[in-house]
Amino acid sequence: MAQPQPLSWQQELSEAAERWLVAIAATAELQALRQVEVESLGKKGEITGLTRRLATLPNEDKRAYGAAVGELKTRIEQAISTQRTTLEDLVITQELADTSFDVTLPPAPGRPGHVHPLSQVQADVERVFETMGFHVLDCPEVESEFDNFEALNIPGWHPAREMQDTFWLQAPEGQGRQLLRTHTSAGQVRAMHQFAPPFRAIFPGKVYRYEATDASHEHTFHQVEGLMIDRHVSVGHLLDSMRTLLSAILRRDVQVRLRPGYFPFVEPGFELDISCQVCAGAGCSVCKQSGWLELLPCGLVHPQVLRMGGLDPNEWQGWAFGLGLSRLVMMRFGVPDVRLLLSGDARFLGQF
Ligand code: DAH
Repeated sequence: MAQPQPLSWQQELSEAAERWLVAIAATAELQALRQVEVESLGKKGEITGLTRRLATLPNEDKRAYGAAVGELKTRIEQAISTQRTTLEDLVITQELADTSFDVTLPPAPGRPGHVHPLSQVQADVERVFETMGFHVLDCPEVESEFDNFEALNIPGWHPAREMQDTFWLQAPEGQGRQLLRTHTSAGQVRAMHQFAPPFRAIFPGKVYRYEATDASHEHTFHQVEGLMIDRHVSVGHLLDSMRTLLSAILRRDVQVRLRPGYFPFVEPGFELDISCQVCAGAGCSVCKQSGWLELLPCGLVHPQVLRMGGLDPNEWQGWAFGLGLSRLVMMRFGVPDVRLLLSGDARFLGQF
């Protein structure tokens, strides 16, 4: 009886190819495919074993065997890759077919946005001043040390600098020191150079102070500066403009008081306080229990500042004010903490 011939390596490789290609095509899940991959191409897999056998073959067979086993490996790799794509597509199709998720459902209605309370009050302030003939200027937030301090009669040695803790910026060599403006007053001398007198302008915007925050202090807040330059101006003009403004913005009668105040760029200088609108004068955390809120420093422009702006103080006079816009917003809406304004908290902002 004839003995069965042992398989030649050619037969063995083609038998292995057939077996693995069938096994790959038969997988129905990615997990099973991964298993087949390990058993065929993994470190201890059959195909890897067949590749290693090369070393044991007689020299004359090595070249042909190497080529054949390499081709086998490539076929298996390609088959696995094709099957993987098929199975992944199947998963997606199954997810889409899942009837518990309705892909035709329209999206939830979006909530319409609205104007930020700071911007609402700023727009009101601008409107009031525009009716009184004021320009509205947009001045830079990154300022020179000159415009923010020196032009306003606050030289480097002046103690007033310490009242405005400053964020200094790194400026290129030789360009002078730069900072984030600590007050909108930095626009005063700019405006004097920009307009021929007489003129009136307000410049609203963000200002920055490097200081500890609490219910009434924030490192970033808003001010509106006002400046009127004419031949004859008086504290009477100033007070009347302020009264017009505050009654228009707060939409009610507010009590105001004027106290002497010191600012190097005005002479005389004043503090205009209004009765606290959060506690109606009873005392709360916003007004530090005093019943009054410091709202508006103001005064007649110092002759030295006029000179810095290229104006002759014998010919021109001016008044200026620096309105705390953030505080005014707090007064208008009864906001107890200034930090809420720029918090970006939708629960807070949704109320306006
Ligand atoms: N710039 C000052 C500050 O932020 C406020 C100020 C005071 C502005 C008096 C003025 C003024 O225009 O006249 O502290």
